[in-house]
Amino acid sequence: MKSHFLIEQIFHSAVEGEVMIRLSSGEQLPFSAGQLWIGFHDPMADLLPTALYPAMDERGEWYLAGAIPSGWQAGGRLSIHGPIGRGFTLPRSSRRVACVSLDEGVHYLMPLMQQAVRQGAEIVFCGEHSPLRLPALIEVFSLNQREEWWQWADFIAVQGSLPAVAAFFKEIDEKFSFPSKKDGVEVMVRQPVYCAGMAECGVCALPARKGWLLACRKGVVFDYSQINWSVAGLVENQPG
Ligand code: FES
Repeated sequence: MKSHFLIEQIFHSAVEGEVMIRLSSGEQLPFSAGQLWIGFHDPMADLLPTALYPAMDERGEWYLAGAIPSGWQAGGRLSIHGPIGRGFTLPRSSRRVACVSLDEGVHYLMPLMQQAVRQGAEIVFCGEHSPLRLPALIEVFSLNQREEWWQWADFIAVQGSLPAVAAFFKEIDEKFSFPSKKDGVEVMVRQPVYCAGMAECGVCALPARKGWLLACRKGVVFDYSQINWSVAGLVENQPG
């Protein structure tokens, strides 16, 4: 889907260097947690596309967030296309959900937490710091308390940069017998998308069990078992 919008509002998110935008449109875009959208502020001004991710605030309002170029201004024209990838797939049957944020990007997981609340699941949030006020029903743990919820959860969603998620799963692998959790773990890896697939630059590539996966084609959410984590820890991309 390709759409053109005016940017209604631009403001800083809780993540350093990251900005959130609200689109001026009565139209409801089909936003879903963990999907990737590609944005150009003005085709004549932006040489490179910008990765944008659906995010939600404490009141349940949708935004797009990302490391947005400084030239983007409220009132400017924005062309976006997407969604790319399936995003997080929370099974309707899930009753014990754990959301793990390896940086301050809690707003990327907020839509998923809201969805879990609606379907009556118990939810834990795991992270060092949540800049957002989480719904009262959510129990909060720090990252080093993972034994409290890792075996308990029937669905686990993790978000962060590639080095952060690779380090997280390496520690998990060392602490737990991980294969028992293979099916219910999804991970959102924020990657730069320099060419958005137009030039096959490979900057967004993630090492898969077989070959490589391009985030600009496949999206940024994967099953844990799709990624080759021993190689992922060696890839040096900046979060997109
Ligand atoms: S961003 Fe260039 S191939 Fe994905």
